[in-house]
Amino acid sequence: MIDKELQKENVGIKATKLIKDGQVVGLGTGSTTQYFIKHLGKRIQEEELDIIGIPTSYQSLITAKDVGIKTGTLDEYDIDIAVDGADEIDSNMDLIKGGGAAHTLEKLIDSAAKEFIVIIDESKSVEKLGRFPVPIEIIPEALRIVKKTLTDINGFPELRMGINKDGPVITDNGNFILDTKFEEINNPKELESILNSIPGVLENGIFAGIVDQAIIGQENDIKTKYNENREIYS
Ligand code: 5RP
Repeated sequence: MIDKELQKENVGIKATKLIKDGQVVGLGTGSTTQYFIKHLGKRIQEEELDIIGIPTSYQSLITAKDVGIKTGTLDEYDIDIAVDGADEIDSNMDLIKGGGAAHTLEKLIDSAAKEFIVIIDESKSVEKLGRFPVPIEIIPEALRIVKKTLTDINGFPELRMGINKDGPVITDNGNFILDTKFEEINNPKELESILNSIPGVLENGIFAGIVDQAIIGQENDIKTKYNENREIYS
């Protein structure tokens, strides 16, 4: 298999070619999107483009600034196009995201964008979502009670712990993450809304029905899939 890192860079480069001068661009989080942001910065400098980036995390904000992309917020701008990575994508183009604990702002920005493009290497494609646990951002005060509720609905929640930091991961919003496995996810949209209805939950990592286009790395190629159910393609 072609190096996964190379697939990530290739899809990142491919996505930069879709960005047009004057656009406001949602900047996703994660290692794949980092390639997109860096190559977009390069294009902006070389072609003197007027682009505003709307970061989905401190990671994307810092990288955008490093590579000279002007940034703004969702409060100031409407977003033309958002480009983001994912941890899993199924055949309906539903996603699990939040491996980097940034899914709350990612969902806000990706779903607010007129067009949402997901960029992934081929290891992220699955028949059915659920191999990857669903990241659920909760307010710290809700830890015990939300864990119990998730267990009652047949989930297996685990508090995400820090690496090079003692104790739990604290999100960009100051919260905890419960990585929650479910035996089967038969209806992602329904589970997404059930999880968000639990008091104490801020947002979960299921992104159902919002992808317009998926750019997927392949061994010797890149595959592009369009979501026919989305308004911009129908
Ligand atoms: C961050 C995310 C990332 O987009 C997702 O985890 C994929 O990351 P990577 O490109 O590093 O595999 O949802 O919250």
